[in-house]
Formats: sequence, structure tokens, C-alpha cells
Amino acid sequence: MSIKKIAPSLVAAAVATVVLTACQAQETKMGSAAAGKSMAAKTAQSGPPPLAPLGPPPIPPDNKQTPAKIELGKILFFDPRLGGDASTGCSTCHEPDQGWAWAEDFSRGYPGTVHWRNSQTIINSAYYSRLFWAGSVPSLEKQAKSAAKGGVAGNGEDDIMESRLALIPGYRKRFKDVFGSEWPLIGDAWRAISAFERTLVQRDTPLDKYLLGDKSALTEQQVKGMALFNGKAGCIQCHNGEMATDQDYYNIGVPPNKRWEEDGLAQVTFRFELYAKGMTEEGYRTTKADPGFYFRGKNKWDKGKFRTPSLRYTTYTAPYMHNGVFYTMEEVVDFYNRGGFDEEGRTTGYPENKSKLIKPLGLTDEEKEDLLAFLEAFSGEEIMMEKPAMPEYAPLFTKAELEAAQEAK
Ligand code: HEC
Ligand code: HEC
Repeated sequence: MSIKKIAPSLVAAAVATVVLTACQAQETKMGSAAAGKSMAAKTAQSGPPPLAPLGPPPIPPDNKQTPAKIELGKILFFDPRLGGDASTGCSTCHEPDQGWAWAEDFSRGYPGTVHWRNSQTIINSAYYSRLFWAGSVPSLEKQAKSAAKGGVAGNGEDDIMESRLALIPGYRKRFKDVFGSEWPLIGDAWRAISAFERTLVQRDTPLDKYLLGDKSALTEQQVKGMALFNGKAGCIQCHNGEMATDQDYYNIGVPPNKRWEEDGLAQVTFRFELYAKGMTEEGYRTTKADPGFYFRGKNKWDKGKFRTPSLRYTTYTAPYMHNGVFYTMEEVVDFYNRGGFDEEGRTTGYPENKSKLIKPLGLTDEEKEDLLAFLEAFSGEEIMMEKPAMPEYAPLFTKAELEAAQEAK
């Protein structure tokens, strides 16, 4: 074989090794099988997957959808009795008319607290392989349990919540019909809620219609914006596929929320979360920004990384980012255009981990407008829902029984 023929294959082999090593390094750093898989996909196609129309959500084989289960899950989602003091249920922080989220930077918290992160929308959460900003739980079933019990969220106890359900005849009947148990089991409540959440999907956005062939679904300006999204602005590198997310974790430079310096209650919550998640004492005393994905493997290179969120339904879910620091989409686009800095030049508390993919974009005002117009195509009609009627507690005794007991005294 002549040297000329050998050379290209050697080069190819060398390139392949380099790519593989880089992937392996990144995979260990991310420590997740999903990350490995998406890396494999990226290498095979040499480029991120394109945006795609959203298919039906995955349904786990051990929690099939039935109409009765979905209806039960819906009632439970809106019922504040699934929480500590019966004031804070799922819908308290995931309000249908606030984008199924909470329209403040930090979510409201359990009474006496604020939350430490922005409330995420429930719409399309059925598609994520890991939930929460730092991807800490692997299923909706586990997520619901951790939300209802979390100290700054529902703050409930399993036995108390289960007892409350047992005291509500309407629930006893529904749980029996759906799950066949004599008494409601709290684990079944999370299953029913998850089944309900799997119905909260939006698959008919202008973008879906366009990608399915209806070229009139996007305006000319939006088509220009899409080209920027896929090209000059580079959004597609992370916001790709049918959910417009690669579900990987990056530090993109989001600055810490100033409320941690100015608002005592927010500071207390932040400290509590650091402590609860096993921060070292030194870290507890000195940490000023949310370490995010760090809590998953306690690797310092993961500080300030968060899961790429979907861009679907974002028309209704402001403010944005894990700590809600940006109140409008304009601010988000300006932040990216500056290379991951806010208007005061602030960036992540962990600049050493900032992704190399985030750099100044040089978008003109007109290009920013085009991109903003395109971002609207990720949302369809607002999904509204009336709160269902709540089944009532059985009275523990009748008025006559109470009077009889008092007379007997
Ligand atoms: C006190 C406010 C609060 C309550 C109550 C609450 N949540 Fe949340 N929810 C949040 C916040 C804040 C986040 C993001 C937290 C994080 O990432 O650390 C979140 C995240 C989620 C997510 C993840 C979405 C995603 O994109 O990964 C789901 C699903 C969810 N909540 C469902 C529920 C359900 C079901 C309940 C009731 C059992 C509930 N929540 C109760 C505030 C709340
Ligand atoms: C390197 C990967 C990456 C690139 C490139 C990227 N994003 Fe993001 N995006 C993320 C991550 C990660 C977050 C969450 C960051 C956080 O909360 O700290 C995010 C958050 C967002 C949010 C907030 C969504 C919400 O629900 O709060 C919007 C909107 C957004 N990105 C739009 C864009 C646009 C537009 C571009 C292109 C100009 C872009 N992104 C480029 C990874 C990326």
C-alpha cells in the first residue's frame, strides 16, 4: 500500500480516537448513561439532531394510563391536603394560569419559606428522562413524592397524607376503583398524579405544524429566526430534538440571584438546601451561587451546571432560568448575545465551568427580533384548566353525637 493511500485512513483513525477520548472524558464527568448515548448520537451524525415534531409521550409499562386514574390524578394535583399543613399542593406552585409554574423568580415555598429555585412548568414534563433543574430524579412518580415531601415544597409526611386520604370517602372509592386497594396508598397517589401529568402535553405548536409540512405555520420572520437558531446563534447545539433539549447539563453563565443577598428568607432557604444536600462546612459558609448538577456527583467541575430546559411552552413560563433571573425573552436573548453575561456584566458564580459553547454571538437588532419571533413558535395555545371539585372529609361524628357526648359529661 502506498503512503498516499495509508495517510487518510491513519488520519481518520487518529481523529476517531480523539473524538472517542473526548466523549469518554465528558461522559465520566457527566456520569450519566443518557449523556453517553447523546454523545454517541452526536458523533455518529456529526452535528446535533435537528428540531423535530413532538411525538406522544412515553408511558411506563408499570403505570398504564386509564381515564379513571387520570381523573383521580387531576383531583390530587389540585388538592392541598397532599402536603404538610394542607395548604400547599402541587397546583399551588404549578398554577395553570401561570404557565403551570409560578410567575416569580424563585417559586413560592411552603408557608414560612420561599423556594430556592424557579418553578418549572408541568407541561411536557412527561418527556424528560430526568426531572428538576439538576436532573435529580428519574421519573414523574419519584418526582411527585419528593415534591410533596420536600421541606420548602409540600413538606408532607407519608403517614399523615395517607391518613387524610383514608378520611375522605370520595378518595377511598376512587383509589379502590383504580388500584383495587381497600385503603388509599400514598405511592398510588404519586402514580395517579403522574398519569395526569402525562396528559399535559402540547404537540400542536406552530413549529410542530411547520415541521410536519404546513409551511404557512411560521411567518417569514420566524423562518429567518429558525435559521439563526440553527446557525449563527448556535442554540441548536443544546436545544435540539423534539423537546428542544439534549437533556445534558451545562453552565451557561446564569448569574446568581441577588435575592440571596437581599432577602433573609431566601438566604435561609438557600443555606438550608446546601446543608440538606450534604455541602461541606466550608462550602456551606462560602457558597454564594447554586451549585446545581454538582449535588449529583459532588464533582467541582459540575458546579453551576443545569439541565438544558425545553423551549416548548416558554411563552407562558417567565421568568426564566433555574433562579428566574430573566423576566423576559428579550433579556434571555441579550444574555446569550453577550456570551453569557447580564446587562451589568454579571455571570455565573463558577466561571471556571462555563461552557465553551457560550460566546458572544454578534446578533444585530434585526436578528434578535427574528430569533425572538421564532422562539414564540415553540408555544401553542395556553392550556387552561378549571380546578376540579375536592371530595370532602367524612365527618368524624355528627352534631347530635357531639351534643350527646357533651351532655353525658
Ligand atoms: C412550594 C412550591 C412547589 C410545590 C408545592 C410543588 N412544586 Fe413542583 N416544582 C417546584 C419547583 C421550584 C421546581 C424546580 C425545583 C428544582 O429543580 O430543584 C419544581 C419542579 C417540578 C417538576 C419538574 C419539571 C421538570 O421540568 O423537570 C415537576 C414534574 C413537578 N415540580 C411536579 C410537582 C408535583 C406533582 C407536585 C405535587 C406533588 C409539586 N410539583 C409540588 C415548586 C413546587
Ligand atoms: C451550551 C448549551 C446551550 C446553548 C448553546 C443554548 N442554551 Fe439555552 N439553556 C441551556 C441551559 C443549560 C439552560 C438552563 C440554564 C440555567 O438555568 O442556569 C438554558 C436556558 C434557556 C432558556 C430558559 C428556559 C426556561 O424555561 O427557563 C431559554 C429561553 C433558552 N435557554 C434559549 C436559548 C437560546 C435562544 C439560545 C441560542 C441563542 C440558547 N438557549 C443556547 C443550554 C444552552
